[in-house]
Amino acid sequence: MVGTELDYVRQAHARLQLAGDGHFTALCSRWLESTIGCQRALLTHSCTAALEMAAILAEIGPGDEVIMPSYTFVSTANAFVMRGGVPVFVDVRADTMNIDESLIAAAITERTKAIVVVHYAGVGCEMDTILEIARRHGLLVIEDAAHGLMSRYRGRPLGSIGHLATLSFHETKNIMSGEGGALLVNDAALEERAQIIREKGTDRTRFMAGQVDRYTWQDIGSSYLPGEMTAAFLWGQMEAADQITYRRLALWDRYHRNLAELEREGLLQRPRHPAECSGNGHMYQVLLPESTDAAAFIQKLGAAGVGAVSHYVPLHSSPAGRRFGRSMGPLPNTTSLARRLVRLPMWIGLEPEQGRVFEAVHRACGNA
Ligand SMILES: Cc1ncc(COP(=O)(O)O)c(C=O)c1O
Repeated sequence: MVGTELDYVRQAHARLQLAGDGHFTALCSRWLESTIGCQRALLTHSCTAALEMAAILAEIGPGDEVIMPSYTFVSTANAFVMRGGVPVFVDVRADTMNIDESLIAAAITERTKAIVVVHYAGVGCEMDTILEIARRHGLLVIEDAAHGLMSRYRGRPLGSIGHLATLSFHETKNIMSGEGGALLVNDAALEERAQIIREKGTDRTRFMAGQVDRYTWQDIGSSYLPGEMTAAFLWGQMEAADQITYRRLALWDRYHRNLAELEREGLLQRPRHPAECSGNGHMYQVLLPESTDAAAFIQKLGAAGVGAVSHYVPLHSSPAGRRFGRSMGPLPNTTSLARRLVRLPMWIGLEPEQGRVFEAVHRACGNA
């Protein structure tokens, strides 16, 4: 936390308007629109909620297929499965762990409605190629930018590129409010329906803007908006977004410099960024060689007081993924990377302890 959050929560309390879409929600939404350059930003109570809204907006119905990576969080797929959709899992690239754009076209059928990309660790997917495939086949592109706030692809902020995008402000993210998220709408044709879906299927947003004299049930929807306390907390974080990103990138660079030697010796592989992507320091993850036992490596770090963790269990290998989804072959990169990936500690207060982490990683690699 940056220290201003509770002041803003107190201010929200004093304003006596604690439901959603008040003063702080407006501040956060306008900030997202100007920082990302998206058409409309709608705060939600999680990225999961924003993905569920995206699935409704994409008009996913029973049997409709949605192409996505298997190496992602459950919500990326679950939101579409809740509408009867079928996730079609495609393998990831070995360098970025993002969906392999060269495998997408082969996964398209007459039932395909959308492509969901995940910008893993805040590093952009190959969006120009993906947008071109989507345009040729008339598909919607949804960016799961849960990790991606403040990152760019060819100079464009992540979240501003697809028809829709989703953000997470879960406490594990760079900018956070405990739980929280946003749906970003870049296609003007989807904006009004997005507002209705978020407000329980009503046109309450138009009512609040004085455009109708009462609000009524218009469509399906749910209660997807956060209260003002959450938005007030989030505003403290957003105001500090540049400093938070700067500090994370500095920590990321220190990891990268310190671990170069271990990479040269073949003991681990550091993250790779394509030249067209600039990151946000969300995560520092290493890949261990196939011959290294990742669980034992994590345990060694744990014994040295360093909290390292693996990441996603590939969705195609999970019980619900097998039940609801379909895979484009055996997904060898996904399977191998998921086994070998270890995330090292990353948070804005890490600097005084980062030396201890370096030491523990060198020792766990047997190189100290
Ligand atoms: C890629 C991805 N999408 C979606 C989510 C869900 O985010 P939330 O916890 O805000 O619902 C996560 C969570 O970490 C995630 O990693």
